[in-house]
Amino acid sequence: MYSGNELRDMFLKYFEAKGHKILPSASLIPKDDPTLLLTVAGMVPFKPYFQRRVEPPFPRATTAQKCVRTPDLEEVGKTARHHTYFEMLGNFSFGDYFKTEAIPWAWEYITEVLKLPVEKLWVTIYPEDDDAKGIWEKAGVRSERIVGDPENFWAAGPTGPCGPCSEIYVDLGVARGCGKPGCAIGCDCDRFLEIWNLVFMQYNRDEAGVLTPLPKQNIDTGMGLERIASVMQGVETNFDTDLFRPIIDHVANLAGVKYKDNPKSDLALKVVSDHVRAVSFMLSDGIRPNNEGRGYVLRRILRRAVRYAKLLGIDKPFLESAFRIIQRDYAHAYPELKENENFILNHLNLEEKNFLATLEQGTQLLQEKVKGLLKQGETVLTGTDAFYLYETYGFPVELTEEMLAEQGMTVDMVSFQAAAEEHRLKAKEQSQQMRAVAESPELAEKAKSLGMTPFIGYEKVSATSRIEGLFVDGKEMQDAGEGEEVTIFLAETPFYAESGGQVSDVGFIRTPRAEARVLEVKKGVTGTVYHRAEVRTGVFHIGESVEVEVGNSERLATARHHSATHLLQSALRSVLGEHVQQAGSLVTPERLRFDFTHFSPMTPDGLRAVEGLINEAVLKNMPVQATEMSLKEAKKSGATALFGEKYGETVRVVHMGTFSQELCGGTHVSSTGEIGLVKILSEGGIGAGLRRIEAVAGLEALAYFRSLDDQVMDVAQTLKAQPLEIGKRVSGLMTQVKDLEREIGQLQAKLAKNEVEGLLSRVREVEGIQVIAAQVHASDMESLRQMADLIRDKMKSGVIVLGAVSEGKVNFVTTVSPKGLSGLHAGQIIKEVAKITGGGGGGKPDMAQAGGKDPSKLGEAIDRVPNLLRGFLKK
Ligand code: SER
Repeated sequence: MYSGNELRDMFLKYFEAKGHKILPSASLIPKDDPTLLLTVAGMVPFKPYFQRRVEPPFPRATTAQKCVRTPDLEEVGKTARHHTYFEMLGNFSFGDYFKTEAIPWAWEYITEVLKLPVEKLWVTIYPEDDDAKGIWEKAGVRSERIVGDPENFWAAGPTGPCGPCSEIYVDLGVARGCGKPGCAIGCDCDRFLEIWNLVFMQYNRDEAGVLTPLPKQNIDTGMGLERIASVMQGVETNFDTDLFRPIIDHVANLAGVKYKDNPKSDLALKVVSDHVRAVSFMLSDGIRPNNEGRGYVLRRILRRAVRYAKLLGIDKPFLESAFRIIQRDYAHAYPELKENENFILNHLNLEEKNFLATLEQGTQLLQEKVKGLLKQGETVLTGTDAFYLYETYGFPVELTEEMLAEQGMTVDMVSFQAAAEEHRLKAKEQSQQMRAVAESPELAEKAKSLGMTPFIGYEKVSATSRIEGLFVDGKEMQDAGEGEEVTIFLAETPFYAESGGQVSDVGFIRTPRAEARVLEVKKGVTGTVYHRAEVRTGVFHIGESVEVEVGNSERLATARHHSATHLLQSALRSVLGEHVQQAGSLVTPERLRFDFTHFSPMTPDGLRAVEGLINEAVLKNMPVQATEMSLKEAKKSGATALFGEKYGETVRVVHMGTFSQELCGGTHVSSTGEIGLVKILSEGGIGAGLRRIEAVAGLEALAYFRSLDDQVMDVAQTLKAQPLEIGKRVSGLMTQVKDLEREIGQLQAKLAKNEVEGLLSRVREVEGIQVIAAQVHASDMESLRQMADLIRDKMKSGVIVLGAVSEGKVNFVTTVSPKGLSGLHAGQIIKEVAKITGGGGGGKPDMAQAGGKDPSKLGEAIDRVPNLLRGFLKK
């Protein structure tokens, strides 16, 4: 019997012998592909070759590719063959061989290498593909075993390469089928298992859905490793193969259950085993759990795993132990499971811990909501409630839906989307968005025709260039005059376009008769640089020669902050450890912001150490040099690269002595001394495992210390103290304030006691009941209540209504003692009293408090108490 590992190797070796290059699996994060969130098939990394956007470096390749698909998430565990994460074995031809080779090879592999019995095999083709039919027959498939299926057309997404396909099925026997009369190949049940899909990639589909033939005909095949393993190992489901069993057994062991004992726990075991594989591999490719895109997919799967484990009775963190099994079994084929172990474990544990904590609370809340709804005969949870669970307890809405479904209930998804959208808009408003380049089709067309704008800004900040394009409001112009906001394309530019966290240069474009101020510079997808500018004087003409000048003081200030960011990253790594990874940055002339991965707040000592290292590196005045090299060389030399970031073949590495080497396209100082003083302003958490540091450098650091200095001087003057003594003086003052507060408190208590005694002498009787109604002095509700308590203790039986003005509003307290005295209710009394001052409130029969708005009505309210009581007593 072949193991999963052997089956993977056999496949690759077979196709290697047929002239294919064996490539390692690409990342689960598709490279340069905004149309896909995750790698969903073996062909994804090869899209550029099929489309001939990139010339294929070899004509044939074969891979075992890591894939994640989530549309069928809910099916996982319920069927024999659905997964989120799986491995796809494939052979690919990039304009080289086509059907005539691909079909017989597949047949040979299945029947002669794997030796699957021919009588169990079926083949499907795209209905009009007579070509394929003929080739299958020639390869040895009987014609009655070849069936047409209109669904045999495959595409990786809504757009991109696609083509008709042909599939190989295994008949697992009548016993595995649904037994329905029409059960035949194509039936959804478990009897006929598709094991291999051969796609004849020959079209590209555009956004409008139009198919155009690809430059060449290609082959893309895909065979799910888990499926073929289930067939070859003769087991009932993919979960029973050696690719899953160790994980299932481990989890079952932790839960104290037995696999195949009970369908309910089996389902949970299958879900958990599938999900921990997905989570481990996604993390190993640098995906971080968060609330967006693939990070959200990861979070959702991870949380689902934790929840299903909980259903099994696993209450403690278990993901790390499950990961260890996966690492043990898969790291030889996927070394990233070892290489990125720290990253994986940090995120795995943190996310699990956080989710376990909130799961408990959220579940309780949801159960209460469910109870309430059931009582009202409702079966739909509002979108607002579902969004609250999502926002506050991190419940993916799909999880809420699933938990509700267990009780036959649903979520109002329309109002959920509305709540989410509202939240998104608010968040967007809050974050300062740079003004985007106003793209019009005309502008985009022009950019495309011009292509990449050469950047000469590393060497110079001013130059002579030429206007190649001039746009106002997205329309191409021959000229543009004073006051107009223009987008200018230049023949070449010294302006740095916003990128890699560094904001763009600003500056001027001039002719002898005209001047425009460049406000913002961006780079389009075509590499064309967009200069957004405002014409201040004169008229600019297309095609004319211009003098361009980058604002040097801004450029230098930005460079200081950018170079300081590199020193910061290095210093963080040496103080906190190599796990520190850049997770985002912003570099402006005013400050720098650096986000990084780390799992706990930094200590004041740690921050000092980092700041110290940076400033030492500044004082060493090390040369800053940029060199171009291949990505491989750069990595070998130990340069820091952004995790998950895409780089071209040649990269630019910025060295600062031996202190820092980073891949970077930004503009820098020429030696570290030019950075000047660097001061960290703040460090804080911005998400699970993510920290943010803000700092200033150079003149901005000077400005920071000047403003501190001004404040110290001001305070010293007020205190009539020496600047260096203000700390001591302030803490002395604080002690004094505390003492005074204590004294005031004591005096107030004394006053209250006196006031209470005075009040006791003013008891009056209403219908035989003792009543005290009075306006008193009490700074807040709490002291008012204490006062009422004191009086009640002395008076034993009766009604007390006290009112006091506090901060422009009115507070009331009412007591009735003993409880139920003559049927009186403190809550009802106070409601009427407070109403007179424009307020409201209520409470229990023996004690109630309320607020009012209008202090001028307080006297009247108190005076009306006896009458109100008479009214209540009559009822
Ligand atoms: N791309 C096809 C699939 O995923 C064949 O590899 O089925």
